[in-house]
Amino acid sequence: MIVGMDVVNPNIVPGLQGVYFTESKISDVDGTNGKLYYRGYSIESLAKDSTFEEVCYLLIEGKLPTAKELKNFDTRLKGEREIPEPVLSIINGMTGKAHPMDVLRTAVSALPAYDRKAYADSREDNLRKSIALVSKFGSITAAIGRRMSGKGYVKPDPSLTHAANFLYMLKGKAPDPNDAKILDLMLILHAEHSSNASTFSTLVTGSTLSDIYAAVTAGVATLKGPLHGGADEAALKMMREIGRPENTERYINDALGKKERIMGFGHRVYRTYDPRARIIRSTLEKLQNHSSPEVRNLTAIALREEKMMIEKLGKTKGIWPNVDLFSGPVYTSIGIEPDLFTPLFAVSRIPGWCAHLLEYWEHDRLLRPLESYTGPLDIKYVPIGKRR
Ligand code: ACO
Repeated sequence: MIVGMDVVNPNIVPGLQGVYFTESKISDVDGTNGKLYYRGYSIESLAKDSTFEEVCYLLIEGKLPTAKELKNFDTRLKGEREIPEPVLSIINGMTGKAHPMDVLRTAVSALPAYDRKAYADSREDNLRKSIALVSKFGSITAAIGRRMSGKGYVKPDPSLTHAANFLYMLKGKAPDPNDAKILDLMLILHAEHSSNASTFSTLVTGSTLSDIYAAVTAGVATLKGPLHGGADEAALKMMREIGRPENTERYINDALGKKERIMGFGHRVYRTYDPRARIIRSTLEKLQNHSSPEVRNLTAIALREEKMMIEKLGKTKGIWPNVDLFSGPVYTSIGIEPDLFTPLFAVSRIPGWCAHLLEYWEHDRLLRPLESYTGPLDIKYVPIGKRR
């Protein structure tokens, strides 16, 4: 008998909760103590002192770069920012008719057609493709946002950082340095999170020895769902439904009474405050005096939701704020529309997906779990003409 394959008494773990499927040196999520580490560095230290480019290098290459290594890496990233013309046509043709995540997924899956070495699969080839993907995810998402607001494509600016260039390509003008800094922080915080659903589905696809483009396309598809990456957009939608801060408690009580989930709360691994949410919260505090009434309003609602949910479900059920709770007010403060929140999550998470694939391919094993069949067997086949 194959280990773990007990047909009579199968060990079924719904949602694979608590199941380890591999070892990894990329990130550690400590759900009990609310800690997160990328390659051994605490998320707090990276949020304070690092940049998204440096974090990408750290995740993909496995160590912090020297100044020279970072410069080379950054030059390679910048050299990959352009979107192939036919992919731009796909974006322009779909945007407005499909959800931006569907546009992103389709555009990403078209990229190998314009990569002459798309199916070369040495580690060096996959490293090159990873760098291209990190870079192009930003440009593609900015192009989608641009099209959504009825404006034309803006070419990348190689003098800008990844975050600043994203805002430049989205808005068509040099971004406020503070906005670029906030976006850089958000990119760092969302860059990696162990074997979350989208990373796992990236690995399931990659484990068949399909290629990196196919694997990260699966990652985008999985990230879209409101129980995962789509929660940031859904959380903002909920805040807009709440409308005014003073409505928060009544809205949440009604929703919980109907057994609805409050978006931006709860996590499969964290049974305490998500450390990423805690870091975003310090940015949020500064938004309480923001010049935009909408940002001030959303901020006040988010903070009241946080207080109420911690009292109601935090200490009793371990349902605490997650990374998606505060993203809405923060992204709104830098002029990003809710439709673009989840694609932007993918822009952040792509280095994590690539790092995991590169690592998993070093000892690839096809991911293929079991289901326990509970239906009938040996039913007599009745020809269609005789069925009633
Ligand atoms: N609001 C209200 N109740 C909740 C919430 C929530 N957000 N999350 C969990 N619960 C309740 C469940 O209804 C369940 O209650 P019960 O015991 O009375 O049945 C209990 O808490 C335990 O929930 P589980 O389903 O076991 O939690 P699970 O680990 O499967 O779910 C999940 C985690 C999917 C993230 C969940 O908390 C949720 O749906 N949250 C809202 C969506 C969200 O914010 N997702 C983003 C997660 S972070 C990320 O992916 C980037």
